[in-house]
Amino acid sequence: MKNFPHISLFEELNAIETPFYLYDMNLLNRTLNKAKEAADKRGYFIHYALKANNNNPLLIAIRERGFGVDCVSGNEVSKALEMGFSPDTIDFAGIGKTDEEIETALNAEIFSLNVESIEELEVIDEIAGKIGKIANVSLRINPNIDAHTHKNITTGLSENKFGLDLTMLPKLVDRLHAFKNVELKGLHFHVGSQILDLNVFKELAQKASQLNHYFYNQGFKFKHINMGGGLGVSYKNPSNESIVDFEAFFKVFEENLSLPQGMKVHFELGRALVAQSGILITKVVFVKKGLTKKFLILDGGMTDLIRPALYQAFHLTENISREEVSETYDVVGPICESTDCFGENLVLSTSYRGDLVAIYTTGAYGQVMSSKYNMRDKAKAYYVANGILYTEKDYVHAINAEKE
Ligand code: LLP
Repeated sequence: MKNFPHISLFEELNAIETPFYLYDMNLLNRTLNKAKEAADKRGYFIHYALKANNNNPLLIAIRERGFGVDCVSGNEVSKALEMGFSPDTIDFAGIGKTDEEIETALNAEIFSLNVESIEELEVIDEIAGKIGKIANVSLRINPNIDAHTHKNITTGLSENKFGLDLTMLPKLVDRLHAFKNVELKGLHFHVGSQILDLNVFKELAQKASQLNHYFYNQGFKFKHINMGGGLGVSYKNPSNESIVDFEAFFKVFEENLSLPQGMKVHFELGRALVAQSGILITKVVFVKKGLTKKFLILDGGMTDLIRPALYQAFHLTENISREEVSETYDVVGPICESTDCFGENLVLSTSYRGDLVAIYTTGAYGQVMSSKYNMRDKAKAYYVANGILYTEKDYVHAINAEKE
């Protein structure tokens, strides 16, 4: 249990039905403050990528710090508006926006629709004309940069389905003036997720500057450039000190972007803002001796956290009911799929039926990607702030009471 920061709450946690997600609101707030400080210092603006986690307490904390939101569906746009984010801080990317989703965004007059194809631009222009709006649009360019991350979360290579391909730009430029109901506001990039090599961002900043220059020379003077998200986190070290180095991240852009005066720089961080603050808590159902292995069978599985099954992702896993670390297990879930495995040959405490197991760094792309496969119930969320455990309702109530 050496990594578990909430051991004083053990008895309370042990009484909750498992599996459940536990969010550390103090750690989240510290993380958001660090990100904000490093961005503000340079005049950069952060849209939180809501797809990473859309729980209300997290969104409230993010809104209160003045971040905007990055959305990838009409429902995400509606959720951001419902949560009180100002429309002029909301952007909307996605290669397959439906007519209804485009209309939702246009009616709300959001900051930017990030357009991923000429075909999409034609439809946005047509719909905007029909409903009497001018669409705020940014062009999402696929810069053909290798993010050096898992291939399933790479988005900035020519072979990926995202963004406008570089080879199409001359044809695009020829047509841009023809769109009467569109105002071209900026350029947008996002090359992948869980990027740990800052050189990727250096390459991106330099390429984005060149591309902006290319458009500038053709008469397109954009107001902003959006560098996307993708900043990775450490999955091996869940301690409170493991807040991502936002300062180093933004410094790369400060040193490598070369833009005309007055152009605003935006980002869309998801994982780096929320991953560390979430822990999935599960219970040991059985310790099963196989022929060659011991299996630790948990009541949480790939329906609660799909990242290990989908991306072979590693999440530090620990028995928080016991101290010493002594035994090797394959830690698996109960789902009828062989990929329902959190890790092979993990060393944990000698474990027993009923022990609690923590799976760390699951605040991003954890609960949001859960499913009801095998007709399972979805894991609920609980929150810790200043050593007190809350349900979502009680937590929101407590922070509202504090404000009064
Ligand atoms: N902007 C766009 C256009 C995106 O598609 C994404 C993530 C982000 C920003 C935020 O990226 P982040 O800062 O969180 O890396 N489910 C995968 C990650 C998929 C990311 C999808 N797009 C995982 O669990 O690793």
